[in-house]
Amino acid sequence: MHVNLWPGMFRYVFRGTVYMLLFSSWTGSSCKSARLVQDANSVRQESTSLREHISINNDWKFFRYTGEPDKLIYDVRPEVTDRNDNVVADSRPTESVAVNASSQVLKNWILPSGNDFIADPAKQHQRPQGKPGADFPFVQNNFDDHNWESVQLPHDWAIKGPFYSEPDAIVGGGMGRLPVHGVAWYRRKLDIPAADKGKVIYLDVDGAMSYTMVWLNGHLVGGWPYGYNSFRLDLTPYINPGGDNQLAIRLDNPTNSARWYPGGGIYRNVWLTKVNPVQVAQWGTFVTTKNVSASSATVDVVVQVSNKSDHEQQIEVITDIFTAGKKVATIPASAVILKAGATHKSAGSVILQHPQLWGPPPTQTPNLYTAVTHIISNGKPVDEYRTGFGIRALTFDAVKGLLVNGAPVRVQGVNQHHDLGALGAAFNVRAAERQLEILRELGCNAIRLAHNPPAQELLDLTDRMGFLVIDEIFDNWERKKTPLDFHLIFPDWYEPDTRAFIRRDRNHPSVIAWSFGNEVGEQYTAEQGAAIAKKLYDIVKEEDSTRPATASMNYAKPGMPFPAVMDILSLNYQGEGIRDAPAYQQLQGIRTSPLYPAFQQQFPGKMIFSSETASALSTRGTYLFPVFEGISAPVGEGTGGSGKLQQVSAYELYTAAFGASPDKVFASQDKHPYVAGEFVWSGFDYLGEPTPYYSARSSYSGIVDLAGFKKDRFYLYQSRWRPDYKMAHILPHWTWPERVGAITPVHVFTSGDEAELFLDGVSLGRKKKGPYTYRLRWDSVVYKPGVLSVVAYKNGAVWAADTVRTAGEAAQLQLIADRDNIRADGKDLSFITLRVLDGAGVLVPRAGNRIRFEVSGPGEIVATDNGDPADLQSFSSTVRKAFNGLAMVIVRAKPGTTGPIKVTAQSPGLTPAQVILNAP
Ligand code: GAL
Repeated sequence: MHVNLWPGMFRYVFRGTVYMLLFSSWTGSSCKSARLVQDANSVRQESTSLREHISINNDWKFFRYTGEPDKLIYDVRPEVTDRNDNVVADSRPTESVAVNASSQVLKNWILPSGNDFIADPAKQHQRPQGKPGADFPFVQNNFDDHNWESVQLPHDWAIKGPFYSEPDAIVGGGMGRLPVHGVAWYRRKLDIPAADKGKVIYLDVDGAMSYTMVWLNGHLVGGWPYGYNSFRLDLTPYINPGGDNQLAIRLDNPTNSARWYPGGGIYRNVWLTKVNPVQVAQWGTFVTTKNVSASSATVDVVVQVSNKSDHEQQIEVITDIFTAGKKVATIPASAVILKAGATHKSAGSVILQHPQLWGPPPTQTPNLYTAVTHIISNGKPVDEYRTGFGIRALTFDAVKGLLVNGAPVRVQGVNQHHDLGALGAAFNVRAAERQLEILRELGCNAIRLAHNPPAQELLDLTDRMGFLVIDEIFDNWERKKTPLDFHLIFPDWYEPDTRAFIRRDRNHPSVIAWSFGNEVGEQYTAEQGAAIAKKLYDIVKEEDSTRPATASMNYAKPGMPFPAVMDILSLNYQGEGIRDAPAYQQLQGIRTSPLYPAFQQQFPGKMIFSSETASALSTRGTYLFPVFEGISAPVGEGTGGSGKLQQVSAYELYTAAFGASPDKVFASQDKHPYVAGEFVWSGFDYLGEPTPYYSARSSYSGIVDLAGFKKDRFYLYQSRWRPDYKMAHILPHWTWPERVGAITPVHVFTSGDEAELFLDGVSLGRKKKGPYTYRLRWDSVVYKPGVLSVVAYKNGAVWAADTVRTAGEAAQLQLIADRDNIRADGKDLSFITLRVLDGAGVLVPRAGNRIRFEVSGPGEIVATDNGDPADLQSFSSTVRKAFNGLAMVIVRAKPGTTGPIKVTAQSPGLTPAQVILNAP
């Protein structure tokens, strides 16, 4: 355990007292986040002399049962009778199953952990007598765990696999075919010096999957079941300052509990926070802004202070506002007498002249501020707490859509699940930043966090990079989508989970709206479902009245009570219609004609947007024939799909049963200009939910594949979302020895309005986009090897070009690192693309050569991938088949090392490749 103090300390003088203010200090396991935190002025993760925030990510011991686990269960679970995880995503959720809990369960000791987030004191939980689990060996201080695996957090126990390949696997395709399930323990000693006596010491867990229960020195401290929320436990009563302190954490992750890959383990950061008894409460600041203009803005700050000492204290609260390292305002002291055990909310306000506003690029800049709050108790400084925030005005207009600082911003968004591909659920700042960089290149400006709160560091990134975020908490309420999902704990936890979610994330300027549900079953239960929606809505608004609250609707119709609850109308697929185009007529399931107009008519004052669109499916680099002649079709055998290959054609015309191609969505959005925009399902492929091929491991719906390689669809969205960016993109590839003489359609995506296609210099015709068309198609091209090229025009002038050449035999390998210089902190990553080339350097577009990756020097391979949803080779394997010409190797430097890291790739018969990384 260590505390790193940032060197940039400066002295701060208050009322004649000199305080040391550590302006950007932090303790962290990730230097990347330190840099980001510093850049962003978002100094949430920090230590000061008054408040220590200490990473305890290192030195854990880990054990997961392979056989029968212990009986220290949170609660009894219903028997799983239906294990089919291949249900259509828009199936109607079903009623919960009641079970009789036995008195032996530990739930009653865990429920009090949520008490700070239960508004009505009468509903808060009393801790029962007794010491559950106290005799269990794993919680004993002297238990010998040296045979357990040594791990570092963030840790996802399932990601290294192996994948389950059998049809009736215990974890099927829906949850990613990886061993996420079961009971596991983490143990670690805490080094608590005697000098900490008198301090309050908290354990802060940013995320653990799932049903966390924590023991310290044999005492059950508490826990938190929902794996996506962050939580705090007070260790103080059980801690032994200066002595031996043993932490033991039990997780229990059910099978059949999710519609995607949840990961397993303590998959986010874990901290010790040490504070004085008089302190800013957990997530105890709330900074909001109003009357925002270029010339001035009002900043309101509410600070919740707790007096955990045993006597009354006179308290003053002062907040300074900084931007770019400069103090720009002070909210003067407010004084209060606080009784022992009491909490108090102190509110203050200041008007800033010429504020630097936060807004999304490319038209605006995401400027950030920091509020530094000082707590003075009986004349002595006792706490100092930093809150990153931004100043921006949001308007959700029923006609104009979203306005940021008065300017319209069309929502060009994507949905993202929490996993980081081959790295699994274990959060890594660089991996998340890379995803956002790729999405930025796409022209994406908004992310919907489907369907759960993210790692906190992700919101630091979206703040800094200027993405608009819809922060979402639940995929189900009382009714269930999978047998053991959140519905089991909804009655006990909906309130603490919802309040904790909002309190943690409410200061992030990137968060523009709260979503408290996705396609929940309560859409189907009329007044009853709407009443539950209203209950959650009210909690959200009690916690934050400044942002709109909504839940996404794929079924609720304008006349039903459910949408009436929502501030803004968040539609999944309904806007452009579900199963309503000719090619979808034979399908069963929800069928809806395009509903934007009906919703607008019913709710003329509410902004409408699509929280999910498309669910278009494809595999990068795979093209199947014949090609559908219309613009949108459900994938099927022979219609864009191959069950044998488990691949979907990348002509980008094929969709999930309830989906629509990008082209169809674009037309629908353009015909209804009051719609604020869309969030595409999905930005990246993710682990699990491999519709339509459940023997695979990962989804087909991403604009980008699981390895981070762009599918053709990337260029279709880019052509629309970045209209001024000169680009043209041809598909398919042009290496089809078996298709000589066969019709092989060629499609072009361009931000131009017209294009001419050439094969070996001979024109195949010049075509212009018509109304509501978004691609140019030459559907009767007869294949012959050669050079296919396109010249795109805009307003009659040459705009952009693209060329595709027929490749020869695979002859050589190429490695390209996204970053050559990485920090040697064990966290920073280089993502290295492997390309299989012919002798002339042309990508061999269907190459599937087996590649062996090696590293020499002070680095290591973290994972490999190729973006093939059907590849069941473990991600930790250093041997990986290329998929359609590409593979990915992810490398990190060993912590504290220096010197070059040589990464090589070899494959029999091919010239090898190498790349050198520097870890300074
Ligand atoms: C939606 C659902 C998403 C995902 C998607 C798949 O109905 O909300 O979570 O399942 O379908 O296409």
